Amino acid sequence: MLEKLVRKIENREAVIGVVGLGYVGLPLVREFSAGGARVLGFDVDEKKIRELLAGRSYIDHIPSSTVKEIVSQGRFDATTDFSRLAEADCILICVPTPLTKMREPDMSYVETTARTIAETLRRGQLVVLESTTYPGTTREVMLPLLEESGLKVGRDFFLAFSPEREDPGRKDYSTRTIPKVVGGYDKPSLKAAVACYEIAINTVVPVSSCEAAEACKILENTYRCVNIALVNELKVLFDRMGIDVWEVIAGSATKPFGFTPFYPGPGLGGHCIPIDPFYLSWKAKQYGMTTRFIELAGEINVSMPEYVISRVMDALNERKKALRGSKILVLGLAYKKDIDDVRESPSLELIELLREKGAKVDYNDPYCPKTHKMREYDLKMTSKKLSAAMLKRYDAVLISTDHSDYDYQFIVDNAQLVVDTRNATVGLKRGRRKIVRA
Ligand SMILES: NC(=O)c1ccc[n+]([C@@H]2O[C@H](COP(=O)([O-])OP(=O)(O)OC[C@H]3O[C@@H](n4cnc5c(N)ncnc54)[C@H](O)[C@@H]3O)[C@@H](O)[C@H]2O)c1
Repeated sequence: MLEKLVRKIENREAVIGVVGLGYVGLPLVREFSAGGARVLGFDVDEKKIRELLAGRSYIDHIPSSTVKEIVSQGRFDATTDFSRLAEADCILICVPTPLTKMREPDMSYVETTARTIAETLRRGQLVVLESTTYPGTTREVMLPLLEESGLKVGRDFFLAFSPEREDPGRKDYSTRTIPKVVGGYDKPSLKAAVACYEIAINTVVPVSSCEAAEACKILENTYRCVNIALVNELKVLFDRMGIDVWEVIAGSATKPFGFTPFYPGPGLGGHCIPIDPFYLSWKAKQYGMTTRFIELAGEINVSMPEYVISRVMDALNERKKALRGSKILVLGLAYKKDIDDVRESPSLELIELLREKGAKVDYNDPYCPKTHKMREYDLKMTSKKLSAAMLKRYDAVLISTDHSDYDYQFIVDNAQLVVDTRNATVGLKRGRRKIVRA
């Protein structure tokens, strides 16, 4: 059974099914297609399927021309008909893994997908979970649901976990060039999964189990979360001490070993870093442990928007103004520069906090023309067009996301006050007295 699947994969005869065609799934479709595989995409969102089949991309950093090319080659199809999962030889699951309101893992998407796959699971199929999750998910959550099909892992089908390391907007690494960690339920599962990813990824890194692969991803994101919290805390301290945290980080980063720079900001954003570590915290409780680093980092990072607001208030106060009634323009809605993803973006929290305190808030983001209803926010705003005249009308401009498109000198020249949370204005010569860092 294994040899047959591996041969099919190597001969590019295997069909790769990708479930969940979002920020993670769509780049995978692209790479598997580029590797010569036949790809079948699944999503519950009919609009996404329609867009793809019409050759249009809905993700900013994947051009429609790429989607058009994949579709025109005739080796890609996309559907909401999940009975077609039986056509796939390898099924890669890229569905969301958010937190519930109580900040516990929301496994509902993974569970629904596992149940759906079980309905058509057939001998010789490989199922790989890519969604970020706590160690144990593949074996404890996925496996029992898949085996409800009556088929047995190891005997009838293969099962693996391979974390996605997609970093939207990144120019120096792509889905293909980011090494991919893979852990199998057993040795045959690992072999099948490695063969599958070798179609699309230059370097595949096998590890000993699904749990090890799951833990790799959580370690990576926890490492970022904790280190960002560290520099966020030091930013506040160094500011009180009259020291420029960004200058310090740049200085420390000249050490050729033993130091990796992390940068402070207005809070943590994105679908991963603010969320994933709490998957591990939740799991740790089952082992009688609290993950203190994660809790502390969460506390510090979550407090950052409040800190930024206090800096805005102080800066206005200096100018004899109150935040209540002031007009504030927030620059950048996306959670990081040069992308259109606003999930968990600190800008949303900043806007809410500013409004709560009575400020009149607008935003500009060239990547996000309007806000959408989200689980926690429904801001109902549209991006305001930047101009010299409009900038002059705001009591303060708050740089929350340092998009490269912005002409920061133009912004400072025309704004009354600029509060910069990203050190975006570092190189500017004119108007430094108008700039406050936060
Ligand atoms: N976005 C990133 O940069 C990134 C990076 C690494 C890992 N991840 C992880 O990858 C996973 C997916 O994240 P994403 O950013 O691609 O999310 P996304 O929201 O962009 O995409 C998820 C897709 O799954 C679809 N979907 C939801 N339920 C489904 C179901 N039952 N069946 C089929 N499709 C379904 C949604 O319609 C959506 O298109 C998450 O676990 C995330 O933590 C994301």
